[in-house]
Amino acid sequence: MKVGIIGSGGREHAICQTLKNSNKIDKIFCFPGNAGTKEIAENININLENFENIKNFVFEKKIDLIVVGPEKPLVEGLVDYLESFNIKVFGPNKVASQLEGSKIFTKKLCEKFKIPTAKFGIFENKDSAKEFLKKTKFPTVVKADNLASGKGVYICNEKSEAVIAINEIFDGKFGKAKNLLIEEFLQGEEMSFFTIHDGNTFKTFDTAQDHKRVLEGDMGKNTGGMGAYSPSRLINKDLENKIINKIIKPTLMGLANLGTNYKGFLYTGLMIVNNEPFLIEYNVRMGDPECQTILPKLKTNLVEILLACCEGKLNQFKIEWLNKKSLCVVVCSKGYPEEFNKNVEIENINKIILKEGDFLFHAGTIKKKDKIYAIGGRVLNFITISENLKSARENILKNLEKLNWSGGFYRKDIGYKVIDK
Ligand code: AMP
Ligand code: GLY
Repeated sequence: MKVGIIGSGGREHAICQTLKNSNKIDKIFCFPGNAGTKEIAENININLENFENIKNFVFEKKIDLIVVGPEKPLVEGLVDYLESFNIKVFGPNKVASQLEGSKIFTKKLCEKFKIPTAKFGIFENKDSAKEFLKKTKFPTVVKADNLASGKGVYICNEKSEAVIAINEIFDGKFGKAKNLLIEEFLQGEEMSFFTIHDGNTFKTFDTAQDHKRVLEGDMGKNTGGMGAYSPSRLINKDLENKIINKIIKPTLMGLANLGTNYKGFLYTGLMIVNNEPFLIEYNVRMGDPECQTILPKLKTNLVEILLACCEGKLNQFKIEWLNKKSLCVVVCSKGYPEEFNKNVEIENINKIILKEGDFLFHAGTIKKKDKIYAIGGRVLNFITISENLKSARENILKNLEKLNWSGGFYRKDIGYKVIDK
């Protein structure tokens, strides 16, 4: 069969590689992919906002299944559009994608179904938001409602910072803002919890611990993710049951009340406070770099799982995993998450020799005449699966020394709360 993957990040290279391992797949197309996917699939440069072009390409190449990686095309309704032409697509529809596309949509759902989350207020203009600050405790969290690539969240330690956040959001920094959220700051440890859904049933799809801050020791600015390990050190059966019963099941009920259901990966971003889960956010996709961290442990054939989801047959499936730990270190362009140079050659990448249990997934890379260049903020993902996280990280750091890329940097302390305690 033929599969198409939408997206160009590390997540999509990991999905591409995992699908490639299946003997059921003859050809993979990546829209637009990166230098890593180019080695195992055909990269197609197509405007992802032009749904009609995507549909025409799917018909022309007789693609059997489309897998959507990133949130933007999901929130914009690509799944609904392609399904209206009877194309098989793995990913949630436009209504369900509001779980990520609108923080206010999700908060209202939490309110209606008593889902544990930070207390919040919704404000429609600068004055009412600033008035509320007079009785707010700090730190507090100010959030833009719409998709902002992870940048629309301000953790404010004092009133002046919250005023700047309110001004920036209403002045249109993240697009036209009708309203914003101010919420209580939750003190705890974050965890990424994944489930996979077929519209009727769902199964857990492992957990991971992302490292969002740019500097070691979880300092500095927020990023898309500097590394991860899986499974999370926080997960246990009791916590898993609470997440499913208090958060995920009521959410699915809320979607059912709106006349829809959920198909695809669901990423539940949680704050864990004394073994109690609080919903921070939903993402309607796999996490990045969590996806790169988790997929190497998957034993069951991914394409069979995705097809079962598209056909509503997930309940007949047992998803099996290797009993291993996985760790991922992300290599970024110097300067990220601020300004960085593009088209910087990654000179030594061909010197990296992957052993069994090692994986190298590309993100912002491009290949030109046998050379690989960095074109994004997050560039490469090094993963090792092992009996323990310490040896996985040591192995990755050795590979990174060999890479010795002058244009990049990475955190050497991924997993420190478990490994270096
Ligand atoms: P979000 O885009 O909603 O996931 O927020 C980005 C990051 O901000 C999260 O991963 C958390 O680290 C932090 N954050 C968001 N909301 C809260 C909250 N209510 N309390 C503490 N930290 C938060
Ligand atoms: N790792 C965070 C995200 O994918 O949003």
